[in-house]
Parts: sequence; structure tokens; C-alpha cells
Amino acid sequence: MKNDHVSRRRFLGISAAAAGASLAAKTIVLDPEPAFAAPQSAAPSDRVRFGIIGVGMQGSGLLAHAIQLPGVECLAACDLYDGRHTLAREIVKPDLPATRRYQELLENKEIDCLIGAVPDHWHKQLVVDAVSAGKDIYCEKPMSHSVADGVAMVAASQKANRFVQVGSQRVSAVICAKARQLIAEGAIGELMMVEGFLGRNDPSGAWEYPPPPDLSTQNLDWDTWQGTVPKRAFDPNIFARWRCWKEYGTGVAGDLLVHLISGMLFVLSLNEAPKRAMSMGGIRRWKDGDARNLSLHGIEGNSRTDEHRGYSFSTKRG
Ligand SMILES: NC(=O)c1ccc[n+]([C@@H]2O[C@H](COP(=O)([O-])OP(=O)(O)OC[C@H]3O[C@@H](n4cnc5c(N)ncnc54)[C@H](O)[C@@H]3O)[C@@H](O)[C@H]2O)c1
Repeated sequence: MKNDHVSRRRFLGISAAAAGASLAAKTIVLDPEPAFAAPQSAAPSDRVRFGIIGVGMQGSGLLAHAIQLPGVECLAACDLYDGRHTLAREIVKPDLPATRRYQELLENKEIDCLIGAVPDHWHKQLVVDAVSAGKDIYCEKPMSHSVADGVAMVAASQKANRFVQVGSQRVSAVICAKARQLIAEGAIGELMMVEGFLGRNDPSGAWEYPPPPDLSTQNLDWDTWQGTVPKRAFDPNIFARWRCWKEYGTGVAGDLLVHLISGMLFVLSLNEAPKRAMSMGGIRRWKDGDARNLSLHGIEGNSRTDEHRGYSFSTKRG
């Protein structure tokens, strides 16, 4: 897979630099870009047939990777924007069935499981409907748009006895698994502090994604896209930059912090909520609630860009 050797190279390079620069405390920097296990062949009886719901920025990448796996086949795609049907067909095959209604994928008995890569405000309904229809689902992070949504998702998956995997890829990344093993074996001694950083103050980052040029209510089911919140007039910027509105996104916490926390908990073999937490931030830009009606908390709280991400693990050993 495409990130494999890059991640390994960057990991080794950064670790070597960090080791050379260590002062009083030993600090190991881990770049948690995903590194994938080598795919293994699958028997015909083990074929997994999936459908994908949401073929946007993340869904299209997941789809391109998923169809490369042995024994995995995409049977259908769903998106509320017809342009993404074209995209899915370009990725998979020209005659891939595509629809605006995800219920059609739920009703399709040939489909074993689903990938869900819709905006955060749709995660709960999608997961509840999928498991209730007997489908396992890989749903993108953050798991839910609200705590209550998360509770409903857990209850539905337990009731239906279906798998729900949340797309926080650090908990399944080979490189994080290696770090987990090393730390469990005591390779870095007694852990004192973990620092994580991840920023997206980039002029072309997710807060600023451009809408598709042809987007209109002719090729997008805008009403359904908005979900259950009070309806707004069609706005292509909301479609593309939904992260900037509370009704649809989860701000920095759901967009980026979730990666830091899930990866850190996995690497440290922890599975519990924090006992204490604090937060700082502020709206440094778009302060006056302009056309984008920014409602994020502290979107400029971290001045680093996407090029700067990772962890440092500090220990007592010098
Ligand atoms: N794991 C990661 O590293 C990572 C990276 C980026 C995004 N994500 C997550 O992936 C999800 C999607 O993000 P994105 O950037 O791809 O968004 P996007 O806006 O680019 O794509 C979302 C797509 O879902 C479609 N959609 C919305 N509601 C739908 C519905 N009810 N039925 C069918 N289609 C629907 C939209 O039309 C759109 O094409 C988010 O939850 C985001 O947090 C995860």
C-alpha cells in the first residue's frame, strides 16, 4: 500500500534524529502515519462483499484501498451527490451499482458489510440502520456526533450482535502495534509523559475544502444530507466544509484529537476514559460568524500544519 515504505522511512529517520538529540530525558518520536500489513490471499468461501456509503474525501480513499485486498469485492456505492457515483465507478468499475438511498444497500442480501464515510452527524443513524439490517459496518471516526449518539450506537450493535469498527486507523496500524509491543516490553523504561500534536491550519486543509464546481440541488439530495437539524437553504460551502458547523461536525476534538487519543491509548494498552482533562482555545479567525458561520472551538489552537504530526514519549531514562 502506498504509505508503507514512506512511513517506515519517516519513522526510522525521525526516531534516529530524536535519539541523537535527546538531552536530560529520553524522547522517542513516533510518526503514526498508517503502515499496513501485507495482504494475504483469501479462499473463495471467505470472500467479503461490501457496499460503501459516502464516497467523499475519505470514502474514496478507503474504497481505492479496500478493492485492492484479496477476497474483497465492492458490490455497490451510495452517496447523496451523484458526482460521487461517477467517482465510485471510476475507482471500482464502470457498471458499479450506485444510488442515493443507502437503504438499498441495507436491503441487498448479497452485501455482507458496509463502509460508512459520511459526515459526523450521519454516523449514528447509519450505524443503527446498518446493524439493525444485519450488516457489520466500518464507520469512520469520530464514532459519534454526541455522547448520546454513541450510546445509541453501542446499544444497537449489541442488540443486533453485529460488528462495528470505528475508523480510527491508529488502533490498527502496524507501526502503532510495534510501539505498543515495545512499550509493553519496557523498551523505553518508565513512561513520564506523552505529547501529541496534530494541526490543520493549512490554506487547502479540511476547513477550506472547495465545493465540487457542479454541485447543485439537481445532483445532490441536500435535504437528506442535512439530517435531522433545522434545514438551511442550499449552501455548497456547508457541503464541503461541514466540519466548520456544529450541526454536522465535531470540531478539532472529533476531527483530529480523536486520532491522538485513540492512538495513544492503543500504544499504551489503556482502555479507559481520562480521569482529568483540560482544554484551551479560541476563535482566532472568522471571528464575526461570517458567511461560514464558524462555530468551531479553537480551530487555530494549534499552529502546526498537517506536515507536523506525531507523538513523543518521554521517560526517565537519559
Ligand atoms: N480516519 C481518517 O483519517 C479520516 C480522514 C478524513 C475524514 N474522516 C472521516 O470520514 C467522514 C467523511 O469525511 P469526508 O472528509 O470524506 O467528508 P466528505 O464531505 O468529503 O464526504 C462525505 C460524503 O458523504 C455523503 N453523504 C452525506 N450524508 C449521506 C447519507 N445520508 N447517505 C449517503 N451519502 C451521504 C456526502 O454526499 C459526501 O459525498 C467523517 O466522519 C470524517 O471525520 C476520517
